[in-house]
Amino acid sequence: MGAVTPVPGQPWVVVDNIGTLVTNDPAAGTGPLGVIHDAAVVLGDGIVQWVGPRSRLPGGGADTRYDLGGRAALPGFVDSHAHLVFYGDRAEEFTARVSGVPYRAGGIRATVAATRAATNAELGANTARLVAEALRSGTTTIECKSGYGQTVADELRSLAIAAACTDETTLLAAHVTPPEFEGRTDEYVQMVCEWMIPVCAPHARWVDVFCEAGAFDADQSRAVLEAGVAAGLTPRVHGNQLGPGPGVRLAVELGAASVDHVTYATDADVEALAAGDTVATLLPGADFCTRGRYPDARALLDAGVTVALASDCNPGTSYTTSIPFAIALAVRELRMSPDEAVWAATAGGAAALRRNDIGSIRVGMRADLIALDAPSHLYLAYRPGVPLVREVWTEGRLR
Ligand code: NIG
Ligand code: FE
Repeated sequence: MGAVTPVPGQPWVVVDNIGTLVTNDPAAGTGPLGVIHDAAVVLGDGIVQWVGPRSRLPGGGADTRYDLGGRAALPGFVDSHAHLVFYGDRAEEFTARVSGVPYRAGGIRATVAATRAATNAELGANTARLVAEALRSGTTTIECKSGYGQTVADELRSLAIAAACTDETTLLAAHVTPPEFEGRTDEYVQMVCEWMIPVCAPHARWVDVFCEAGAFDADQSRAVLEAGVAAGLTPRVHGNQLGPGPGVRLAVELGAASVDHVTYATDADVEALAAGDTVATLLPGADFCTRGRYPDARALLDAGVTVALASDCNPGTSYTTSIPFAIALAVRELRMSPDEAVWAATAGGAAALRRNDIGSIRVGMRADLIALDAPSHLYLAYRPGVPLVREVWTEGRLR
């Protein structure tokens, strides 16, 4: 999942006989998803070399032909929010929650203890297992946060493990106050700003903070994000997950790439997002697993906010890597149309990661393509829970 690298000797492949192709390029096909029927795509040297109706496919352009038999294809999913570097599980906490115990941010500490106790090999294997699982359900780019280490050394090794799987690494040292700083959150924030961020920044692309009652308030969150920016990182924010709060507006004010959850957004929050260029990343898997309410995606979309969908895969609130599941929830519970949900999980995720080389199928884009065992992308919502992703190409390579 790294940058585009031409692969010497890798045959070019024409993915042919695509019944319905989502390009996310409105100029290439119909509607905002740029849908082309009876399409073909040529993948070569890691990028898209040609895309269009198969009736116009140039002859002799590829070494291998892969026939989809009229099935659907779309860009690989871009999962812009995941916490994959952890150890252990919280199945008992989940079971208690489904019988009525509410979710609290403090549960994160159980995973912090298990993560600190794990070896590098155990942590690396668990992270790689989840990345492979995500790939099987069509995720071709995944962001990966630290945040279950919470010492300089444990955050540093978390980022190194994340970097072995993805370029999209995020320092989330300010996830919750660790036990040794109990009652001294300001001192922990100072330690994060003065030690963790400078030491860890060379190993991360993003800085994130859990801006929420029970985690970090507006001033503490601002301090963390500004220290991250000073160290060369770009901010993203966990905001307004468990209740209304300052997270959304802080993210917009600081020019964060994304604010994530946005479950409790006020009208003022929606207006701020519409006026800024921060993406709202919705994580319906977390709302499902915490039995919380769902965000008002319609208010965001109708206001013109760019919306992404991501998994939030983590052992506490959303132990799923499945973007098809997020799409099904977005359609059923967030009242997004199937087209809006598919866009949010592909081009929306790319926007949330400020990437212009992924999330759509155009000439020159990274050759990350998935094919479904279905005639169209609408089936992702129409057939919930069914593993419809049959083929996955990353950088032109069938996985
Ligand atoms: O995005 N909100 C903060 N972080 C995670 C939960 C982490 C946990 O409970 O372990 C989230 O939902
Ligand atoms: Fe999260």
